[in-house]
Amino acid sequence: MKKKAIYPGTFDPITYGHLDIIQRSAEMVDELIVGVLTNKGKSPLFTPEERVEMIKDAVKDIPNVKVLAFDGLLIEFAKKQKATIIIRGLRAVTDFEYELQMSQTNRVLSPEVDTIFLTTSLKWAYLSSSTVKEVAAFGGDISKFVPKKVAKQIIARYSINK
Ligand code: PNS
Repeated sequence: MKKKAIYPGTFDPITYGHLDIIQRSAEMVDELIVGVLTNKGKSPLFTPEERVEMIKDAVKDIPNVKVLAFDGLLIEFAKKQKATIIIRGLRAVTDFEYELQMSQTNRVLSPEVDTIFLTTSLKWAYLSSSTVKEVAAFGGDISKFVPKKVAKQIIARYSINK
């Protein structure tokens, strides 16, 4: 049976840290689905459609990666996609408590789906979508954090909002 995994997140926006996890986990499975949460509550900078398109462009050279938006429970999305693995990245011990709770809750909801944690490469350990947005909002250089096209879109979004 083919190994299918979901790498879920908000990806508002996708960063080099996320791409590092996508590249590494795509090598471990037959198919990796990047699941973009359409979290209406969080007032994201980009719409789910924009986030999906940005990720699709950033992963276009990795053949076994698919990008889909999802709403509701992650575990229901995993079941619908017939994925048995959830991938999450861990940057620091501060991520751990929330991630542990989420993976245990998901396992109670659906014991046939397991979460695999990858430790973020040291190079990207400090990086988060929120800090990228904060730097961009104040006109800072974000070229070291996100792909060129994504940086352009973030800068454009903040110029509109000014
Ligand atoms: O990396 P993020 O942006 O913090 O991603 C969080 C995400 C999307 C993985 C998480 O919020 C999620 O799975 N949301 C969907 C609702 C759900 O299933 N929650 C888990 C039950 S504890």
